[in-house]
Amino acid sequence: MVVFEGVTKEFAPTPGKPAFKALDAIDYTVPRKAITGIIGRSGAGKSTLIRLVNGLERPTTGRVLVDDTDVASLSGSDLRALRGSVGMIFQHFNLLSSRSVYDNIAMPLEITGMHRTEIAKRVRPLMDLVGLGDKAGNYPAELSGGQKQRVGIARALATRPKLLLSDEATSALDPETTAQILDLLKTINRDLGLTVLLITHEMEVVKEVTSQVAVIDGGRIVEAGRTFDIFMAPSHPTTRTMLSGLSGSALPNWVQRTMADSPRPGDRVITRLVFFGATSNQPLVSRLGPAIGADVNIIAGTIDEIAGEPCGTIVVSHSADPTVVERASQFYRETGLHAEVLGYGP
Ligand SMILES: Nc1ncnc2c1ncn2[C@@H]1O[C@H](COP(=O)(O)OP(=O)(O)OP(=O)(O)O)[C@@H](O)[C@H]1O
Ligand SMILES: [Mg+2]
Repeated sequence: MVVFEGVTKEFAPTPGKPAFKALDAIDYTVPRKAITGIIGRSGAGKSTLIRLVNGLERPTTGRVLVDDTDVASLSGSDLRALRGSVGMIFQHFNLLSSRSVYDNIAMPLEITGMHRTEIAKRVRPLMDLVGLGDKAGNYPAELSGGQKQRVGIARALATRPKLLLSDEATSALDPETTAQILDLLKTINRDLGLTVLLITHEMEVVKEVTSQVAVIDGGRIVEAGRTFDIFMAPSHPTTRTMLSGLSGSALPNWVQRTMADSPRPGDRVITRLVFFGATSNQPLVSRLGPAIGADVNIIAGTIDEIAGEPCGTIVVSHSADPTVVERASQFYRETGLHAEVLGYGP
């Protein structure tokens, strides 16, 4: 439904500032009816990427297709129609403070010239959907952050879009409110069959709500696929760095302080074992010690869920004796256990 074909975006130079290539040769198809996360460092090009989808920016080269139509070829009423089929929500909500909740949600429909009674038929159920049925006459200043974002979501849905774009929509909210908004986005995705493209710098959000993820770095997509697969085995250094902050993947402080990249005399090998799918319901940790003929210390561990699938992480240490190390690799190969040597420590 949304396809990026060889998209490059270069911002023209301004006095004192050279030209800047914000996006570089992007080829990407947004999975239909899924919630896809776009992640990347600040300045990576995330906002620029989604602004191309609703025509707020035009690519310098290449094409952005929405339902087989080149967005940059549209103007006037065609561009307005496209924007009706692509809803967008924002970090700072972008509500009109002089308009009530009801009137904010009704606004995109007023622009299309829809009759008042028809507008009411759309707006009322949307207010119920987002849980603001009793706030029609309130003004944005009278709402909490979470309630404001619910208005933003209802407004984005008013024109019955097929696609919802979200640029850091939960970044200004506390964790509990974030969880409620994410639940709402999941419900909308499931019940309305909406495709959602969601930018966030919060990895917890990606883990919780997306099924697909694309990683953008320096204007290029460096990694994309199922959230579960990428979170379990990130291949690009940027992805690894971003995911290293996730609770559960962090090593205890004392391990980090004492760990080295190569073994010192007496050091043990510190390995992260990741369990998912077939390896998650076998007693592999208890078999590891006998298999390598040495004792195994458990240093850290968590059981977690990524994109709705269970997984576990356990950090262990064992002797760095070459025979033991070789037996361990053999055990991991035979059992399909995902193992990554993190370093060496006492
Ligand atoms: N209108 C513009 N003119 C010139 N440069 C721009 C313009 N808009 C964005 N850029 C530059 O393009 C790069 C990508 O910007 P973009 O807003 O897409 O990043 P982002 O990934 O959304 O970052 P953040 O996480 O901070 O929101 C940045 O270096 C930014 O300075
Ligand atoms: Mg941005």
